[in-house]
This record gives sequence, structure tokens and C-alpha cells, in this order.
Amino acid sequence: MAKSKKKIALINGPNLNRLGRRKPELYGKETLGKIISRLEKQAAKSGFEIVSTQSQSEGILIEAIEKAANDCVGIIINPGAYAHTSIALRDALEDLSVPVIEVHLSNIFKREEFRRHSYVSEVARGAVVGLGALGYLLALEALTELLRAK
Ligand code: DQA
Repeated sequence: MAKSKKKIALINGPNLNRLGRRKPELYGKETLGKIISRLEKQAAKSGFEIVSTQSQSEGILIEAIEKAANDCVGIIINPGAYAHTSIALRDALEDLSVPVIEVHLSNIFKREEFRRHSYVSEVARGAVVGLGALGYLLALEALTELLRAK
């Protein structure tokens, strides 16, 4: 039987399904589908499989985190606006035994005041902000390094 690849969860929150069409000047022209396939290819080079979830719903995102905590070796998450509002998401991510890297395409520190705080950053191992779609690839690189060092 073929050895199954180690899984990395990619979790994207509300409105990120509209990447490519949604404020491209802020979030870039690349669609989420394109970002995922680039990430899948990159992850495969190091023997990892990307398990992707995108949802508009806080509950579904929390369930995806719970599942990832059991099935995956790491989590890359762009919580979208829930970063700024969701204590429930923060609680789900707190104290996981797998590393969590937060991604924001835009530089949330350069935008409206209400975006400058992220509950997720309080419990993430690290964060990549403001580098567009490249941020997901950098998060993957960070995660694979952290997992290698373990
Ligand atoms: C975002 C930043 C959030 O403030 C916003 O609500 C998003 C996208 C980003 O990737 O830059 O939906 O998470």
C-alpha cells in the first residue's frame, strides 16, 4: 500500500471565495482556486498534501480546525474578517499540538483601525500579512521548516 502523504490544512474564511473579483487592488487578481493549486504543487514537492476548506460560516471553520487538529500536521489559515471578531475561532486554535500560521493577503496594520487586531494572531505560531497570494506560499515554507525542525 502506498504511504499516505502528511496533510496540511488550508482554511479560508468568509468572502475569500471571491478572490480575483473582490477588490483586486487590495487582494490581488489570483483566484482562490489558483492559489490552492499553486500551494498543492509546492506542498507536493516536500511530500505534503493540502486539505482545503473555505467557508462563510464560523461553525464550519471551527469544525475544519477540529478535524485538522486530528488529521493534519499543520494549519495555514486566513480567517478573513473573523480574525478581528471571533473569539470562538481563537479558542478552537488555542493549544493545538500542530503549528498554525495565519495569512492575510492585505496588510491589516495599514488599513482601518478595526482590522489592526487579530484574535487568531494571539494563538498562531506566526503570521504573514500584506504580501498577497505569496503569503500562502511563505506560510507553507515556514510550516515545512517548522515541521522539519521538530
Ligand atoms: C483579509 C483581511 C480581512 O480584514 C478581511 O476581512 C478579509 C481578507 C486578508 O486576507 O487581507 O476578508 O483576511
